[in-house]
Amino acid sequence: MSLKSGPTEGLQFEVFRYDASRDEPPRIDRYDFPAGENISVLEALLRIRDEQDPTLAFRYACRGAVCGSCAMSINGRLGLACRVQLRHLHARRIVIEPLPNFEVVKDLVVDMDPFWEKYERVQPWLHATIGGDKESRMSDAQLSKIDQYVNCILCGLCMGACPVLASNPAFTGPAALSKLYRFLEDAREDRSTETLEAEDRHEGAWGCHTITRCIAACPKGVRPTDGIEGLRRKLIKHRLKKVASLGRGPRPDAQPVPAEAPQRREVPT
Ligand code: SF4
Ligand code: FES
Repeated sequence: MSLKSGPTEGLQFEVFRYDASRDEPPRIDRYDFPAGENISVLEALLRIRDEQDPTLAFRYACRGAVCGSCAMSINGRLGLACRVQLRHLHARRIVIEPLPNFEVVKDLVVDMDPFWEKYERVQPWLHATIGGDKESRMSDAQLSKIDQYVNCILCGLCMGACPVLASNPAFTGPAALSKLYRFLEDAREDRSTETLEAEDRHEGAWGCHTITRCIAACPKGVRPTDGIEGLRRKLIKHRLKKVASLGRGPRPDAQPVPAEAPQRREVPT
């Protein structure tokens, strides 16, 4: 519904409610809210909780698009509630739902454990010896390769937007895969190929269908699909390297060539 009749008409919030600890189906609760407030969706939810319904559950911390904890669906679009302003919605009916592709714990709070498990699996830290009496410097060109991925705030919006995760929860997903690329591409990185090889499978780097909804959903301008494509290039190079190294010497399991190889006989046609 368009906000055509002016800011004096009230807004109506429709908020998804569910409690996984209770044997009750999900429902939608409605809350009236004054229009014309120059505030974010998060501030509106805080006011609804404080003034109308203290049982409403949602996550937040920084209120400034930094911590990534207020990711949710707002009128069908995924975003950070602290960043989306009511006046930019241009609607009187505001539908708030939890982040898709995650199990709901309570109302707008989802279970982020699978997200963190996948994130930890790619070992998202620098495997390098840094220190001593010298600074570890990177060139601007080196930095520009990883800069966008450093901006990730781990909000999970890209995971909520991913159509592959919707049908296959085992897919590692855009957040962890692009973070793995960020470290493998870091000029200082010194890790083995183990974490790269671990994503050489259908649920890993090859699972992405390049639909790029993750790019559209990211509030920090990260392009996870680019990182996944970078990982694929690394995997192809890695495979080729392995094949080339096989051709350089005798395979350990190779059979010895007989001293007198049997002669090839021509078969008359
Ligand atoms: S890539 Fe973007 S959308 Fe995905 S977790 Fe990081 S900041 Fe959030
Ligand atoms: S409250 Fe931290 S990102 Fe919204």
